Amino acid sequence: MAGQVGLSQALAYARDLKSLYETSRARERELERTQARLRAAYQQALQYAIDLRKSYRGLEQASFQSLLGLANALEAKDVHTRGHSERVAALARRIALAAGVPPAAADVIAQAGLLHDLGKIGIPEGVLRKAGPLSDEEWAVMRRHPILGAQIVAPLEFFAEGAVIVRHHHERHDGSGYPDGLRGAEIPLGARIVAVVDSYDALTSDRPYHDVHAPGVALSILREEAGWTLDPEVVAAFVD
Ligand SMILES: [Fe+2]
Repeated sequence: MAGQVGLSQALAYARDLKSLYETSRARERELERTQARLRAAYQQALQYAIDLRKSYRGLEQASFQSLLGLANALEAKDVHTRGHSERVAALARRIALAAGVPPAAADVIAQAGLLHDLGKIGIPEGVLRKAGPLSDEEWAVMRRHPILGAQIVAPLEFFAEGAVIVRHHHERHDGSGYPDGLRGAEIPLGARIVAVVDSYDALTSDRPYHDVHAPGVALSILREEAGWTLDPEVVAAFVD
């Protein structure tokens, strides 16, 4: 009798254990399915993030292209500056690479070379195209173009370093430049490079305020300015 009770109790335990086991297996399987769904959702979110990043980059590139279009339109209006930014960009890239700047950073310097005078779009025509010398007030207006240019490109996150170059391309080695009066190594290298190349291209192009200089004459003018208004090392790399 006692043996039968013991046996049926053991059987009842076994049944309970079995049903507990099955319940826990079912929960495990449910958990596995939930995990699989979570993994799939994570992968999808990751893909969305990648796609979004791509679209964002594409938009930034498109904005950069339209700014280039604006810069070209600005130059095309003036026979004296036509092609200036493209020449500055090409030379600036070469000097940057010669100075040991990594290719990606040299590209940013070249892009900044393309857009360095974009801020002139905000300068009144009467000042921008004036044939004679500018008055003090007109110079003050003209000197705003690096800041205006940096403000125009500021929304392009990928071009933050380029914006800095645009802002400082009229700083001078001896601190007499604008807008911030930076001197020597305080001036970002890209801005020092664009300044040298910008001067060279202005000297060798026909401008209302001077005749075209032969490349040799332009180089000796740059050498004279080295250590004063222009960075001596960048001038040396340029002359080489
Ligand atoms: Fe400029």
